[in-house]
Amino acid sequence: MKGIVFDILRDMVEEQYGLEGWNAVLEEAGSDGLYISTQTYSDDNLMALVAAAVTITGSDERSLVFAFGEYMAAEFYRRFPAFFDNAGNLIDFLISVDRIVHMEVRKLYPDAQLPSFDYRHERPDELIMEYRSPRKMCRLAEGLISGSARHYGTAISMEHSPCMHDGADHCNLKITLMR
Ligand code: HEM
Ligand SMILES: [Zn+2]
Repeated sequence: MKGIVFDILRDMVEEQYGLEGWNAVLEEAGSDGLYISTQTYSDDNLMALVAAAVTITGSDERSLVFAFGEYMAAEFYRRFPAFFDNAGNLIDFLISVDRIVHMEVRKLYPDAQLPSFDYRHERPDELIMEYRSPRKMCRLAEGLISGSARHYGTAISMEHSPCMHDGADHCNLKITLMR
């Protein structure tokens, strides 16, 4: 994972628990906390920080990773507003993630390890994102989708089946617009 992901995790923890909280997470994870946004760090490194944050904050891992995804979406909007503005609505934005957003990310960070998404958009109020990644970070994807929906002020419901964590070869994330 790129250092930018670690930066965003630090911002989230610091916002709620202060620098003290973040230092406690680093200590628990045995990390020096020196992350450079363009550099790549091991996934184990991130997982250790997430596990430490779970210990320090007392929240469960699923909730923490989801909240991190939501926080990331807001942070991506601060850093890269054009992606959200150009798409104009939630479904068009989500469809642009694979071919446009992550493609641009790859230009910025050539060694980024990005997931792949295939899309099924057969009804105007429904989008299925087929998520594939050896990292199986579908819970993070859920949080990113939720945070993006919040950005557009769009109420959604989400279904997640099948899931790679249950042995499937991909996760289906089905987003339905609420009226
Ligand atoms: C402007 C919006 C976005 C930007 C700038 C962005 C950028 C990035 C970056 C920099 C990474 C880390 C790559 C690495 O560390 O090697 C990443 C990973 C990821 N992105 Fe995005 N992303 C955006 C929107 C989204 C959305 C809306 C979704 C959800 C559907 C998503 C799903 C993911 C997932 C799940 C990962 C984790 C890596 C993996 O699963 O293999 N991204 N993205
Ligand atoms: Zn899944």
